[in-house]
Amino acid sequence: MTRLSVNLNKVALIRNSRGENLPNLVQVAKDCEQFGAQGITLHPRPDERHARYSDIPQIKEITQTEFNIEGNPNPRFLKLVMDNPPHQCTLVPDAPGVLTSSEGWDTIKHKDFLTDVIAQLKSKNIRVSIFLDADERFVDGAKEVGADRIELYTGDYARNFVKDPEQAVAAHASVAQLASNIGLGVNAGHDLNLLNLKYYQTHVPNLLEVSIGHALISDALYYGLENTIQMYLAQLRNDR
Ligand code: PXP
Repeated sequence: MTRLSVNLNKVALIRNSRGENLPNLVQVAKDCEQFGAQGITLHPRPDERHARYSDIPQIKEITQTEFNIEGNPNPRFLKLVMDNPPHQCTLVPDAPGVLTSSEGWDTIKHKDFLTDVIAQLKSKNIRVSIFLDADERFVDGAKEVGADRIELYTGDYARNFVKDPEQAVAAHASVAQLASNIGLGVNAGHDLNLLNLKYYQTHVPNLLEVSIGHALISDALYYGLENTIQMYLAQLRNDR
């Protein structure tokens, strides 16, 4: 079964645009769970333009499914995560001002850094996932630095899916299999939507979790949040 974790950054972005507390992120997180989401993801970036660091303790307190915090493990982020241990922390190598995450770790180049950070997180019993391109070169390195899971960056898949789905998914399927073979769990995220999700889930083996924000929150404008979450769950309820 592939779990759906709803990324609430876009909801926080709307809230921040008026400086007050509408929409209320805590209530939205509760509602997402009530509507069937199997996890909640927040990705506080250094400029806090969407999720803020101060959102973390509040969301942690109310989350009843799985709380996943994503981000670049700078000292401030690490302290936040260590002080508010989530079920899962996903490490993402994005630069401070980047529009959105668009590449995974080079697990060879950053081996020592990742090993150190992951050991810290695991001392708090946090499951650690690291964001990875669908590139076989970095899979062994993910295991070596101590990650429990990888999150495959699916932006390239989403872009190529519209032209050639089979070609778009090929590298993801083989990297996921490789990761599973050495005991790494596999998550995925970025630009997944109602058109490309089912194909991804049926072709990528052992996919444990997808985290979806932008498209899901955009779809909710048309279908409502409850219907939208149900529609995404239906894509994942797929008998092979
Ligand atoms: N995974 C990571 C590491 C991300 O940075 C993001 C975007 O914040 C997502 C998943 C979700 O991507 P999207 O908003 O395109 O669904």
